[in-house]
Amino acid sequence: MDDRTVILKYDGGELELPIVEGTEGGGGIDIGNLRAKTSLVALDYGFANTAGTMSGVSFVDGEAGELRYRGYSIEELAEKSTFLEVAYLLFYGELPTEAALESYTQNVTRHTLLNEEMKRLFDAFPKSAHPMAILASATNAMATFYPDFHNPTDPHAVEQSALRLIAKLPTVAAFAYKKSMGQPYMYPRNDLDYVSNFLHMMFALPVEDHEVDPVVAKALDVLLILHADHGQNCSTSTVRLAGSSQANLFTSVAAGMSALWGPLHGGANQRVVEMLHQIDEDGRDFEKYIKKAKDPNDPFRLWGFGHRVYKNYDPRARILKSFAYQVIDRVGVDDPLLDIAIKLEEAALSDDYFVERRLYPNVDFYSGLMFRALGFPVRMFTPLFAIGRLPGWVAQWREMTEDPETKIGRPRQIFTGHPARKVER
Ligand code: ACO
Repeated sequence: MDDRTVILKYDGGELELPIVEGTEGGGGIDIGNLRAKTSLVALDYGFANTAGTMSGVSFVDGEAGELRYRGYSIEELAEKSTFLEVAYLLFYGELPTEAALESYTQNVTRHTLLNEEMKRLFDAFPKSAHPMAILASATNAMATFYPDFHNPTDPHAVEQSALRLIAKLPTVAAFAYKKSMGQPYMYPRNDLDYVSNFLHMMFALPVEDHEVDPVVAKALDVLLILHADHGQNCSTSTVRLAGSSQANLFTSVAAGMSALWGPLHGGANQRVVEMLHQIDEDGRDFEKYIKKAKDPNDPFRLWGFGHRVYKNYDPRARILKSFAYQVIDRVGVDDPLLDIAIKLEEAALSDDYFVERRLYPNVDFYSGLMFRALGFPVRMFTPLFAIGRLPGWVAQWREMTEDPETKIGRPRQIFTGHPARKVER
């Protein structure tokens, strides 16, 4: 709390509201007393001006285009760290010592198997099932296998559940993919690192040897790091909201996955590649699509453009753009969609509509192209985002449950329906 206050004038008088400062990025007006003192509530569609919590997990500077996890820039982490180390950092708040990382990695590695009974769950879905639906269902189903680990106030149960989720989600995602392909499930391999093991479960077959390309594994590791946390975004807020009722970690994360699936959030990476395909097939007429995106009567959006917080280039997109050519070159794919993306970006960034609204490429604009270059089918893009975001979800959920200020999330409403009336009969 700092000494500054805000005076709110309303019909019945004045209310002095304290300002709460953060360590970076400005503060907020604490309106905790607003309704009690004035009978008024705050109306804020999309929570665009509302901080739902204090948080120390990640810092997003939308004006400068910066993102930091626990104080470390994503640029530095992408260069010097690994995804599992970042997962540790987000959960425990500090980078691990060598010994701590070794022990954490071993623990994750030893929890990658799914309970055999869970395999029947995959059989129940149609072959055409979107893997995000399977991911959320399987994550919820995991709660049924670990009923003794539901108590959010038991630190051991929370730590163990977080570990199980991080260990098992790649197995779930790979099984969902194998199911869609009609191929046998590949079991995890403890001799491989986290990302290589996932790639093996995805692309290997029992009938022949499969070598994981270390360039692909490194690129995917960086992609996962870049997705690991992002303040109070839609899916993270959903995880927190579900968890605020003291729902267990598995089911809270499953709720977040459902929120991530939407095309305005994590589903955008799939939409971007579909859009680029469409532009390619339609004679590469960028102007037509820019015009459609600007037309208020056309529901079409330029997927992968715009962000609630970034009013500058999304730093994740910047890293991915510079990385994209490098990776695409190394894996030897010649992707015409990358050239279309670059030209579309150039056209949009020189167009007044996008300039005035400060709409820049977001992480999804280039991540889909990278996932594609690494050999993933389009439907797996959002599950990859989910694997990347999982450490953020569990860290934020734990921060919420440990915060003594946490209350059940329960927004108010301003009622606009029919006033009281009688049934006339
Ligand atoms: N294409 C065309 N116009 C856009 C776009 C876009 N991609 N994004 C925003 N605009 C326009 C809006 O129509 C609005 O115009 P107006 O002022 O004339 O009404 C203005 O820019 C402001 O946009 P809002 O939708 O009000 O901004 P908001 O912060 O609510 O939405 C969002 C942010 C959802 C990300 C939006 O930019 C969007 O839909 N982008 C496309 C989907 C996407 O890429 N999502 C991924 C986000 S990143 C992530 O989740 C990891």
